Amino acid sequence: MAVYHEPVLLKESIDLLVTDSNGTYIDATFGGGGHTREILSRLGKDGRVLAFDVDDNSRRIADELSSEDGRLSFVPQNFSHLKEFGKESGLDSSAGILFDLGVSSYQLDNEEGFSYRRDERLDMRLDKKLDISAYEVVNSYQADELADMFFKFGEEPRSRVLARAIVKARGKNRIETTAQLAEIVAHVCGRSDKTLSRIFQALRIEVNGELDSLSAGLDGAVDLVSRGGRIAVISYHSLEDRIVKEKFKFEAATCVCPPEAIICTCGKKARVRILTRKPIAPGETEIRANRRARSAKLRVAEKTI
Ligand SMILES: C[S@@+](CC[C@H](N)C(=O)[O-])C[C@H]1O[C@@H](n2cnc3c(N)ncnc32)[C@H](O)[C@@H]1O
Repeated sequence: MAVYHEPVLLKESIDLLVTDSNGTYIDATFGGGGHTREILSRLGKDGRVLAFDVDDNSRRIADELSSEDGRLSFVPQNFSHLKEFGKESGLDSSAGILFDLGVSSYQLDNEEGFSYRRDERLDMRLDKKLDISAYEVVNSYQADELADMFFKFGEEPRSRVLARAIVKARGKNRIETTAQLAEIVAHVCGRSDKTLSRIFQALRIEVNGELDSLSAGLDGAVDLVSRGGRIAVISYHSLEDRIVKEKFKFEAATCVCPPEAIICTCGKKARVRILTRKPIAPGETEIRANRRARSAKLRVAEKTI
């Protein structure tokens, strides 16, 4: 059977994350559990891992693992509510939190509508409880909403032309499948893999509210991590990385007054120290062994108060 997901930057991320072998760690994105297993291997009998994921397949794997290792508990929830569900699970603070963003290889290769490489019904929901799938977005958004989405989340320069082409095509027949959508994209923007993956990624970000979840998840993480604990984030594209970089920069700043202010009146205190001035990227050996690692960037911050 194919591997569910090959964990990315495994050693680099967990070396920086785990500082207390008896601490309680959060894996905000369990996936196939690669990072969780590595965290557990570094913990003693009093250490714990609370793992989040919205995908039912991850839940199945986590249930198997937690039946063998009682130190793991699984929370089938969006990490945007990490603080609330952490508290509900009896956690007042955490020794460290990991986010390994995006989708797993299993989701890309097997779940519905994530990839333009397979012809399937448009779906792209990580959490099947969400009401709106890629099908509804493509077939019901106004042209300017579609254009904004492709421009903002896919950085597509021909976003307006593409949006108009989608609206025109669905006026004749509903766009049901990934192949139908890919055909329109290829016609307007070109048939390159880079373009198709950017457009499909934009749709996935919209369907799952990925950037809003990330901002909320990071807010919760900075609140929940205890002093000396760390937040490690592995991102896979510039939109995610920018949010992580800006959040860490804001939390590390001692003053956010406007530059023209003569004295500081904001009273802001730094809550973290950034441990990775430049993000850590996978080495050539990892990229050769796992192509999906090629765009990964790891940023880590340590809570100081
Ligand atoms: C790259 S995979 C994680 C792989 C994992 N680190 C491993 O080693 O197997 C990302 C996972 O995060 C989950 N995910 C993405 N956004 C989420 C969110 N907002 N809340 C909870 N889980 C999320 C996805 O369902 C997916 O399983």
